[in-house]
Amino acid sequence: MKNIVILISGGGSNMAAIVKAAQRDAWEDKYQARVAAVISNRADAGGLAFAREHAIPTAVLSHQDFAQHAQPREAFDAALQTLIDPYQPFLVVLAGFMRILTPGFVQHYDQRLLNIHPSLLPAFAGLHTHERAIEAGCRYAGATVHRVTAELDHGPILAQAVVPVLPGDTADQLAARVLTQEHRIYPAAIAELLRAG
Ligand code: GAR
Repeated sequence: MKNIVILISGGGSNMAAIVKAAQRDAWEDKYQARVAAVISNRADAGGLAFAREHAIPTAVLSHQDFAQHAQPREAFDAALQTLIDPYQPFLVVLAGFMRILTPGFVQHYDQRLLNIHPSLLPAFAGLHTHERAIEAGCRYAGATVHRVTAELDHGPILAQAVVPVLPGDTADQLAARVLTQEHRIYPAAIAELLRAG
């Protein structure tokens, strides 16, 4: 069985879209793949309830617990690795996981670590993508699924979706339009990788 471990920090709507696609498209039968675990760095992440309702094992590892550590990021990532590795994941999927990862963590999951970012990368890496796209006068915005490399929001692009930026759009309106497309391209990109084996 190919295990997929999903990391979240918030609402987890992308995670839910992946879980639903796995059920709808019978990933267990087709690809011998399943969402094996959902891990959050925040205990209040809304997505945890969805995962539990779907009988998916969950774990919470709070980054705040590592604040006093001499090297908090390295210590957090090492602890995260020890939660993930027992699943021997085929893919580790970042789905709204709002953490900057250490190069060592990224290297450990080389080629198996995916992210979705709410912009048409390489434009607007980082935060506040929708505000920045509106501010810049972009006519189009979108989302990108990419492999994770040590450089934030970079790495080989696997899928993109484009949406229009409409006159008078607020950042929230644009975010909602982009998110709908995220829910389509993320499961599709993962299925493509499962198919390729
Ligand atoms: C999504 O829009 C995702 O692209 C973004 O956070 C949102 C999470 O929503 N990720 C990033 O900004 C990563 N840099 P979700 O929790 O409902 O899936």
